[in-house]
Amino acid sequence: MQTTRISELGKHVGTTTTVRGWVTHLRSSGKVAFIVMRDGTGLLQSVLVKSQVTPETWELFGKLTQETCIAVTGEVKADARQVGGHELGLSNLEVIGSSPLDYPIQPKEHGIDHLLDNRHFWLRTPRQVAIARVRNEIEQAIHDFFYEQGFLRVDTPVLTAAIGERSGLFSTEYFDLGNAYLAQTGQLYGEAAAAAFGKIYTFGPTFRAEKSKTRRHLTEFWMIEPEVAFNDSDDNMQLQEDMLCFIVRRVLDRRQAELKELERDVTKLEAIKGPFPRIDYTDAVKILQGKGSSVQWGDDLGAEDEALLVQDYVTPVFVKNYPKEAKAFYMKENPADPRTVLCDDCLAPEGYGEIIGGSQREDDLEKILHRLREEKLPEEAYDFYLGLRKYGTFPHAGFGLGLERTVAWICGSQHIRECIAFPRMMHRLKP
Ligand code: 4AD
Ligand code: MG
Repeated sequence: MQTTRISELGKHVGTTTTVRGWVTHLRSSGKVAFIVMRDGTGLLQSVLVKSQVTPETWELFGKLTQETCIAVTGEVKADARQVGGHELGLSNLEVIGSSPLDYPIQPKEHGIDHLLDNRHFWLRTPRQVAIARVRNEIEQAIHDFFYEQGFLRVDTPVLTAAIGERSGLFSTEYFDLGNAYLAQTGQLYGEAAAAAFGKIYTFGPTFRAEKSKTRRHLTEFWMIEPEVAFNDSDDNMQLQEDMLCFIVRRVLDRRQAELKELERDVTKLEAIKGPFPRIDYTDAVKILQGKGSSVQWGDDLGAEDEALLVQDYVTPVFVKNYPKEAKAFYMKENPADPRTVLCDDCLAPEGYGEIIGGSQREDDLEKILHRLREEKLPEEAYDFYLGLRKYGTFPHAGFGLGLERTVAWICGSQHIRECIAFPRMMHRLKP
């Protein structure tokens, strides 16, 4: 028997086929019964008419439960009124895998801890499927964006000796070489790759042993880090803007059904067009103080300040040129104001806050050595990185886009824990 995925049923109207999947809803009037199932590509309703199926089939229907894995066979009809746009006139039913009645996710409200404990089942529900599809679309859009612009994708190591950002490190024993650290960023390797290949990006998991229990922190998250030889900080912001506009457009073009499932206000996404405002950090502090914030020049901006700042805008906003001490050692000193560095944070609208951190990199060997020492970082771990400044140093810039935060913003999700299949957080390592 020919088998078909639900999304492909349009090609099989008028023929008899078999579809396999999991029961989501059951309903019966005593003479006619309905099974709604999903197979990951869509939803399908099958109709059983008691007088037209065998007694065994009718009896088997009575034993179905939510999440029973089944195979249904019958004639495919196009029917725009039905979920998924088709209906199957069932002639045969088979149970592939039964499912006891105590399935952990019932059609009712569950608390978030219960849902997270049962993430492997929670993933099957319509909202989670929609988020996963939008995430996949964003990932693909990012690959397409960079590929079309001639970037080379470079896969950087997860086990590293060098340290990237300031936040906590996960470490593990590494044979007789001491500790290895799970990468917090691929950037330092990305910089080396930019000198070899010109325009590169990394796309991989990054790890931060941060004890933050906020709606925008994970201990394991995915980051996209382009690095471009000869870009300065302005070019860098332009690239961020172009990439974000491309991603949002792609999701709007291809994922309307998912956005609808998520009840996302798409007019907010339609408004994402360049140019995005570029606000100097020093001005941002004044604006924030005018809005009642207690932020002082020198502080990094917290989540509340970020939300306060973007509330006047419908597009993302760049805040640029932060004070040196608020940012990482590798950012280039701003020649116009050496208290600051040539960097930017890109803040998403609707209160989502920082989704990108980027900067032009310090390319002066003496200056970067000085910064490493100021930050008391182990110079020997940065040997290769310093070598890039010794042999043919070059102006370059790059950034890191947090994938889950971007997915949360585009989906309108309140928490990034549902924006990755199996979230890792301070208090969660399972499932
Ligand atoms: O601002 P961050 O720390 O920058 C870097 O790591 C640079 N090395 C990037 C670069 O220039 N190549 O992190 C970049 C982005 C943040 O803007 C945020 O979106 C995301 O990564 N991010 C997190 N996402 C989820 N959970 C966390 N704990 C995150 N920490 C950062
Ligand atoms: Mg940052």
